[in-house]
Amino acid sequence: MTQEHESLISAFKARGQEHVFQYLNEISEEEKNLLFEQLSGIDLDEVDYLVERYVKQEGESDLDFNKMEPSEYVPHFDKDESVKAQWKEAKKIGEQALREGKVAAFTVAGGQGTRLGYNGPKGTYPVTPVRQASLFEVFAKKIRYSAKHYGAPIHWFVMTSVVNHEQTVSFFEENSFFGLEPEHVHFFSQGLMPAVDFEGKLILESKNKVVMTPDGHGGSLRALNRSGSIAKMRELGVEAISYFQVDNPLVKFIDPYFIGFHLLGKSEMSSKMLAKAYALEKVGHFCDYEGKQMVVEYSDLPNEYQEQRDDKGELRFIAGSIAIHIFSVDFVASVGGDDTTLSLPFHKAVKKIPQLNEAGELEKPAEPNGVKFEMFVFDALPFAENPVLIETLREDDFSPVKNAEGVDSPESCKDHQLQMFAKWLNAAGVKVEKDGEGVPSFDFEIDPTFATDVDSFLEEWNQLTEKPVIVSGTVLEG
Ligand code: UTP
Repeated sequence: MTQEHESLISAFKARGQEHVFQYLNEISEEEKNLLFEQLSGIDLDEVDYLVERYVKQEGESDLDFNKMEPSEYVPHFDKDESVKAQWKEAKKIGEQALREGKVAAFTVAGGQGTRLGYNGPKGTYPVTPVRQASLFEVFAKKIRYSAKHYGAPIHWFVMTSVVNHEQTVSFFEENSFFGLEPEHVHFFSQGLMPAVDFEGKLILESKNKVVMTPDGHGGSLRALNRSGSIAKMRELGVEAISYFQVDNPLVKFIDPYFIGFHLLGKSEMSSKMLAKAYALEKVGHFCDYEGKQMVVEYSDLPNEYQEQRDDKGELRFIAGSIAIHIFSVDFVASVGGDDTTLSLPFHKAVKKIPQLNEAGELEKPAEPNGVKFEMFVFDALPFAENPVLIETLREDDFSPVKNAEGVDSPESCKDHQLQMFAKWLNAAGVKVEKDGEGVPSFDFEIDPTFATDVDSFLEEWNQLTEKPVIVSGTVLEG
């Protein structure tokens, strides 16, 4: 036993966690070393704090909802003519930043996609209507298109987790990085947090391993720092990080308007919102509280607030969060750095966590037996100076694949992609036949190598000397 191992044993004993050593006499030297290595990465002060706050107490929010105000936002120009000039100006600034290579794309792809029930990294899931291109392929091609369009490389940072890192990297390798330069794609794994049972005890998944789970999409901010990605961005001259989630193929993450608003507003963290479809839609709500912007989850905001209406009969808390943000590199360096006064809070999730039973065998419990801890990226907002919030339209930017069926499923996402492509064609004067639900009656697709949004579509379409006829199975490629 080394001195280091002995001091780990006393530290864990002092916190009532000595059960993690109960199989020490049954495991090999190599297994022991692995156990000690894992334990040395656990911050026991943090575990004690989380257990005290979220396991022994309820960890309820202490927000006074009467002080909550809806956040102001820049409306979309399709909804408010008066802001058209503002959007035009923002676009110019955003395009300039893209030409100067100041923007990096950042995908959080460390989730486990349990609701979708797909076996593999979610980014490898096939989504497009005809070619069944994967989510990663769609994003890669959007980057390819924009880098060519603006004449500057766009670096892509992809956060994975230990669970899917290798599979993710192999997927890119097998697909030749979808035509991107491999040195422009940067992978790193997010951090892990130990799970605990309802007594606050660490949970063993084998005789030499405790259960650790990904620390949530909010963990991306510290992972960007710890992985050296922030330092790399600085070397590359990147100033703005365009953050998006892996499950939304519609997302316009190289959006010159949004980038421009972020830069013009000297914002540390900017967000896109969309108008809630109905009062109790299950989205986070953008609110201002004591001079700070924040997102309050639907589960935390009492229904009476979600349903409040203003004098004009409009929903008061109308701004829904869709997890699309731009961060300044300096902001992520501070809020994801070592200063604990700037750390994001944790949230608890009660789960069924497989654990070793009395006989030392792994068993999946029938009932929830423990708690996982996760950080949420929007919790960075209250730390941000000059947060900018702009409106986007659902049909242009948001249709996530979350569930196997129903709302936010592969089927609804396919319909939304078809509707978006039809909208671009309509803008060019081409009518697409639709069914009673407003969904095109046949499958076709506009590949991101051709265009990535309505503006770029019109530009490309108008340059075609011979316009193709759009029929079932058409794939418009650049
Ligand atoms: P979700 O909250 O939808 O979680 O993640 P999920 O893991 O993909 O799916 P479920 O809940 O198990 O069904 C939203 C985004 O945040 C990423 C996901 O990959 C997705 O892009 N994420 C989530 C991480 O990168 N790390 C995490 O620890 C959690």
